[in-house]
Amino acid sequence: VDVELVVVGGPEDAAGAAAGLLAGAARAGGHLALAGGSTPRRAYQLVARSEPDWSRAHVWWGDERCVQPGDERSNFRLVREALLDKLEQAPAGVHRIRGELGAESAAAEYDRALAGVTLDFVLLGIGPDGHTASLFPNSPALDERDRLAVAAKPGLAPFVDRVTMTIPELAAARQLVFLAVGDDKAEAAARTLASEPDPATPASLVRSANGRTAAILDRAAAALLPR
Ligand code: 6PG
Repeated sequence: VDVELVVVGGPEDAAGAAAGLLAGAARAGGHLALAGGSTPRRAYQLVARSEPDWSRAHVWWGDERCVQPGDERSNFRLVREALLDKLEQAPAGVHRIRGELGAESAAAEYDRALAGVTLDFVLLGIGPDGHTASLFPNSPALDERDRLAVAAKPGLAPFVDRVTMTIPELAAARQLVFLAVGDDKAEAAARTLASEPDPATPASLVRSANGRTAAILDRAAAALLPR
């Protein structure tokens, strides 16, 4: 395993561990990319309390669903409600993906916004199919070598167009952290962390090239990892 593994008891412990890393990253300042989906919500709530000053941080998103920013499927909305609205000091920059423009336009705009930015910290989920951000199994986005963000099609619900950071953009980050909990993630976590890199499991292709990659898993999600 080329990834630093942090295995904790249950989902609340995993959220706490992720919140601890987020707090450190927010304090250090720089560019942080956050994940969507349902798993990170608790971590965002916890870090809003433990580190309410994000004034040194720029917030980005690893991916977005092409919906209005107020839609309940929006990853921006998730972060706004669980984190941004609860802070005492707002981030220095909030760089949301404007999914409502449509995937191609939103991806082009986000690609331009990311030019010249090195991400200091990226939080990523792992889907039950092994996707991460909106990099789905065997999809064309996995072959992107130049762009930092592209349009993508969903492989799992919600079935709306996506915008996603690309593998080169994620690989350039100084610290990548995967967060996954629950037994429905166990197989994908094992393929991501303990198998050969494989486009059938996009998360297995995502590593920091010159920095650190870590994974926070609860016991259920870690159940199929070799020990
Ligand atoms: C998204 C996410 C996505 C997520 C995984 C895991 O917008 O869907 O950013 O990559 O991290 O799908 O999601 P859950 O935590 O909901 O299982």
